Amino acid sequence: MNKTQINKLSIRIPDDMHVHLRRDQMLINVLPFTAYSFGRAMVKGNFNQRPIIDAGGVENYRNEILTNVDTEFNPIMSIMFVKSTTPRTVAEANEAGARVLALIPGKTSTGSDDGIALTELKKYYSVLKTVCQKKMIFSIHLELVETPEGNAIKEPERERLAIPFLKQIIKDIPGLKIVAEHVTTKELINFIKQAPDNVSATLTAHHAVLTRKDVFNEKGKIINPHNYCKPVAKTKKDRLAVTKAMTSGNPKFFFGSDSAPHPISKKMGDNPPAGIFSAPVALPLLCEIFDRKGKLNGLENFVSRFGARFYNLPLNRGKITLVREKWIVPFEYAGVGIFKAGETINWSIED
Ligand code: NCD
Repeated sequence: MNKTQINKLSIRIPDDMHVHLRRDQMLINVLPFTAYSFGRAMVKGNFNQRPIIDAGGVENYRNEILTNVDTEFNPIMSIMFVKSTTPRTVAEANEAGARVLALIPGKTSTGSDDGIALTELKKYYSVLKTVCQKKMIFSIHLELVETPEGNAIKEPERERLAIPFLKQIIKDIPGLKIVAEHVTTKELINFIKQAPDNVSATLTAHHAVLTRKDVFNEKGKIINPHNYCKPVAKTKKDRLAVTKAMTSGNPKFFFGSDSAPHPISKKMGDNPPAGIFSAPVALPLLCEIFDRKGKLNGLENFVSRFGARFYNLPLNRGKITLVREKWIVPFEYAGVGIFKAGETINWSIED
């Protein structure tokens, strides 16, 4: 049967439920890309200096974002879960407008030095209970970097080995709203599918198109630092599981770009930091992924409804239109390499 090709798609203004907008000049440079495509974004405050960990930080960072945006864009504020986090810091941050407590476990990724380890979580259950009482969300970067005995775990295994910790929290703190962030493995996706309704996951666009081979050579050396992020891209089987969950219409899975810019100078250095700057391509790329699966009509649910519903937020008003028009992704913007640089994307955002 010859299906009519869709060439134009208008969807409700979407949300990016996980983004790293940084601060200072980097924020000024990258924020317009997110604000152009998204009405709201859950912003992470994993900064090496002045991380967002309390009410004062939330107020400052929200002001910094709002001062630098001239379109209608609302940040969804979070605080980082660090060693000094107490039920009181959470309650105060919530008063100041934070909706999310975000954990990047120590040693896992950029700006995670002070993050508590998954193995220490039990000591912080009073904090998680406050998150639950305040109807906030616990956002978790699920990777186990070392065994309880202190042995390092290889990057591709880290997400799978973190699943038991998620299982334990679900059991110990019933009703706590949890988002497993940037999920990359078939195993974790399957786990989320059968978990209770208070547990969901974000999926990125890059994990729906990358495999390990786009990042590393056979010896495990990084061959493209602009494709290097945490959790690392995995196998084809995992990539397919991400794409399938994304386009499945299951409301447990919604969009979080995890766009995470780093200067090209650092990315091209000896120890490139993890993080992919995908904000300039995120929405057109998602459209291409849904189109390839013949599921264009499901894009709006994934980017504009399911996240808002889980966060208990009203849907954004207004529409954004995507058109089937090819463009070539520029290599960089203001010294930051853009994801898919030099490649052609078949969909564009209509002006
Ligand atoms: C993020 C960053 O650069 O802030 N990097 C990444 O690879 N995703 C941190 C994080 O979310 O892990």
